[in-house]
Amino acid sequence: MPAARRTLFVTTALPYANGPFHIGHIMEYIQADIWVRFQRMRGAEVHFVCADDTHGAPIMLKAEGEGITPEQLIERVGASHREDWARYLISFDTTHSTHSPENTELAQSIYRALRDRTPSLIESRTIEQFYDPVKGMFLPDRYIKGECPKCGAKDQYGDACENCGSTYAPTDLRNPTSAITGATPELRSSEHLFFRLSAPEVVAFLRRWTATPAEGQSLQPEVYNKVREWLGDGKLSDWDISRDAPYFGIPVPDAKGKYFYVWLDAPIGYLAALKKHFDSGAARRAYPHETRTFDEFLADPSVEQYHFIGKDIVYFHTLFWPATLHFSGRKTPTNVFVHGFITASGEKMSKSRGTGVSPQKYLALGMNPEWLRYYIAAKLNDRVEDIDFNPDDFVARVNSDLVGKYVNIASRAAPFLSKHFDGHLAKDDGQRARWWSTLAGDAADDIGAALDGREFGKAIRRVMELADHINRYFDEKQPWLLAKDPSQRDALHRVCSDCIVGFRNLSVFLSPILPATTRKAADFLGLGRPLGWADLDADLTRIGHYEHLMTRIDPKQIDALLAPEPAPASPAASPRRRRGAPAAPVAPGGTISIDDFAKVDLRIARIVAAEHVDGADKLLKLTLDLGDGRPRTVFAGIKSAYDPATLVGRLTPMVANLAPRKMKFGLSEGMILAASGEGPGIYLLAPDAGAEPGMRVK
Ligand code: MSP
Ligand code: ZN
Repeated sequence: MPAARRTLFVTTALPYANGPFHIGHIMEYIQADIWVRFQRMRGAEVHFVCADDTHGAPIMLKAEGEGITPEQLIERVGASHREDWARYLISFDTTHSTHSPENTELAQSIYRALRDRTPSLIESRTIEQFYDPVKGMFLPDRYIKGECPKCGAKDQYGDACENCGSTYAPTDLRNPTSAITGATPELRSSEHLFFRLSAPEVVAFLRRWTATPAEGQSLQPEVYNKVREWLGDGKLSDWDISRDAPYFGIPVPDAKGKYFYVWLDAPIGYLAALKKHFDSGAARRAYPHETRTFDEFLADPSVEQYHFIGKDIVYFHTLFWPATLHFSGRKTPTNVFVHGFITASGEKMSKSRGTGVSPQKYLALGMNPEWLRYYIAAKLNDRVEDIDFNPDDFVARVNSDLVGKYVNIASRAAPFLSKHFDGHLAKDDGQRARWWSTLAGDAADDIGAALDGREFGKAIRRVMELADHINRYFDEKQPWLLAKDPSQRDALHRVCSDCIVGFRNLSVFLSPILPATTRKAADFLGLGRPLGWADLDADLTRIGHYEHLMTRIDPKQIDALLAPEPAPASPAASPRRRRGAPAAPVAPGGTISIDDFAKVDLRIARIVAAEHVDGADKLLKLTLDLGDGRPRTVFAGIKSAYDPATLVGRLTPMVANLAPRKMKFGLSEGMILAASGEGPGIYLLAPDAGAEPGMRVK
């Protein structure tokens, strides 16, 4: 193992397992993935892991609202997350879940270590909290509504007023009601466990860590300033880390009916994912010389540990998390890399309102994930600035920069080499290196430093400057004229070979951002493997046939992407959407009540297999995926209208709670829906883009 090889443990924030990704998530994964791919290209040993953040009251209540268990919900959402990570080319080495044996064991042992210190850092205290007597549970702040104590605005939530912006305790609300049942909450007392962040040794440690997280490291200036404000006069509030049953979480050891607050076990999920990565042998398979155990690796001072996060969770990662690690006797993070938020045309992304650019719809429209990777990279720097997804800017950057400049070089130079030189590049007598160094100067070093420093926008600007230079060189030399003059054959050969080498170098720089396109470029360049940084100095001898590397964005795709979706139906227990629950109307003759309709459990299913049934002339046998890992078989009378092969992969609504029916050909476990009229013709229903297996139709 080379002595200077860096070893990195890298994470992104763990996404809540309560829904599909929005573009903010994707932006974070893209940022971290580019950095990780760059480090791997430079020879670092990188272990890049993630997990779903699965615990807490919102997930418990959401599952309940859907009539499924939290385990089913997090499995369904987890499948959608894993699919999107793959589709956006996010190269996590291992992904896991905070609802796992590893996380339970780690969270409980970390807690014990904090508790068993002398003096103990865990303290039990009785607090007064709102309790929903109908639901039988203590209410999280977000699930309490009432009138703002400051301005009197109605319908405000338990933590802050959207009208006047003031923050308060839920107990300050006037006329409070439970957002779950509408009941008037009662104040009840309960024992909670606190992590004593106000203890002098904790404050002293945090002052040290936030000033210098590790040797040679500092927090980003804007992060540091914020943290200093919080640390203020050295008085941090103690942290309430327990919740009472019913709660979906990890049990607190030796405290019956108490669970860890989700934010206690969430970052520990970073370690749980790494543990799985080591214990499963994946780390060793990726790096055969890596013989350390999980515990040895994690504790090794030479291993650098970085967390990529958004600006809304800085408090957790710069105060709670390092303190949790340090005082449980563990190594603290090397640094935390914070990014701003992404907005779409200036409008804030909102999970609950579903506005903005949907990453699932983006793919369903056939848009290239690397366009988005490139665009987001072009906007990113190492500061905590918000970035905006601007559709015109997106089209311009991808079409004019990426396709018009970078891809253009290969598509212009390659045909001359193929036609006149059988794809061979001109032998190089040192001229090419001189040409490149005159053209590029220190660009390779600058681009490497920019990528290492998360200044992706800067790196891309540099790459595009080089692309301009190479295109200009091509234009000036006019190879299309050289090709007509046999005496200029050598010049033609040299110019086109130079340009291809230039293209190769740009491909190296863009590899972390465009892993798929540059992989295709590497094949075209005759390498048959991904490009590495060392390829910058390597000789190139022969290209293969040039096939177009990337298409342009069709503005129609953008229009479709941004077209508003119909407002999503509100799941029952979502605190931010639910208004008072009206009583179901009584059904007059001929109509049904909403309650009757609600008995039908309509779900989106993906058809994963479709086949003819021997001896049945109307039926097809379908295998349907409801996102819960348990495939359902349904026999559907649609044989006359559909070729089974065309059905595979489609989404369609199904009745998921129909009693199973034994048919001649086997058990049918539901029903799919299709339209038909008087004449022939059967038409399956299909949801709009963005729907996923398991989603409820109502
Ligand atoms: N589950 C917690 C994190 C636990 S980490 C131990 C969480 N989850 S989240 O799903 O709400 O957010 C995941 C990440 O996405 C966070 O880093 C968050 O800052 C980031 N983003 C959420 N909305 C975003 C934008 N609009 N733009 C960019 N990043 C955003 O927080
Ligand atoms: Zn107010």
